[in-house]
Amino acid sequence: MSVDRYAVIGNPVAHSLSPRIHAMFAEITGQELEYFRLHSPTDGFDRSVTEFFDDGGQGLSVTAPFKSDAFRWVDQTDPLAQESAAVNTIARRNGRMVGYNTDGLGLVQDLRRLGWLAKEVKILILGAGGASGGILGPLMREECRVTVANRTESKLSNLKERFPNLSTVPLKQVEGQWDIVINATSAFLRKQSLNVNSSIMFNARCYDLGYQPDGLTSFVVESRRWSAREVSDGLGMLVFQAAEAFKFWRNVELDAEVLSKVLSSMRS
Ligand code: ATR
Repeated sequence: MSVDRYAVIGNPVAHSLSPRIHAMFAEITGQELEYFRLHSPTDGFDRSVTEFFDDGGQGLSVTAPFKSDAFRWVDQTDPLAQESAAVNTIARRNGRMVGYNTDGLGLVQDLRRLGWLAKEVKILILGAGGASGGILGPLMREECRVTVANRTESKLSNLKERFPNLSTVPLKQVEGQWDIVINATSAFLRKQSLNVNSSIMFNARCYDLGYQPDGLTSFVVESRRWSAREVSDGLGMLVFQAAEAFKFWRNVELDAEVLSKVLSSMRS
């Protein structure tokens, strides 16, 4: 009998640690499955996912730059995906393709683990693309005061239509003191610099949605240089969002202690 097949689709995807995480989840819970990386041309998302599911694939994790494409492609979405207009997890359910967004839940769980989250905390999110859309709703429901800064102003007005209570500011004009600054841009992934007033990092807790095994993403390094109070990459969020996906696919829940062991072993 063939085992159930899962994959992470992205471009680039070679750096993705999702296969390692899901292999560990499968081992811990005694599930038999296969999980691999699926590189897709940027203009070939529909063809790549259709082939994958036609070949019997059971579920996909979706990473940059395809979260909006995945939202458009699925037959049905859960409320979090609907709210964020982005999908990071696809599951086959009774022949229909269902899209979820587990990014926001993953981030909130990781900010709690770090002890950074509190009511009324002032959060600045840099970037207004798919990654940013996925985390806004869950953060705002934690009663945080969220502002989004972006280079292209039209994307800010789109976000404001979906989240009327959101504050927005053009990236070039952002200043002031923040409790938490989150990098949700793809600037560093594209090997570009982020032209932002560096004083916003001063004394802030800086979190990068991107990750590296050693934790030292370009944003983490930059924010340390600009006297951040604490820094973190997004490896914790990756592990927590993967656990949510695993639950949808396999109907198995992983507890906090197991997840924290997975996270520490990913650092080694
Ligand atoms: P993702 O799904 O990763 O969010 P995306 O939807 O393409 O990908 O969004 C990328 C985000 O990173 C956008 O907010 C983009 O800003 P623009 O809307 O101005 O394009 C931001 N971004 C990418 N490169 C950037 C750079 N060099 N400086 C500032 N912002 C950048």
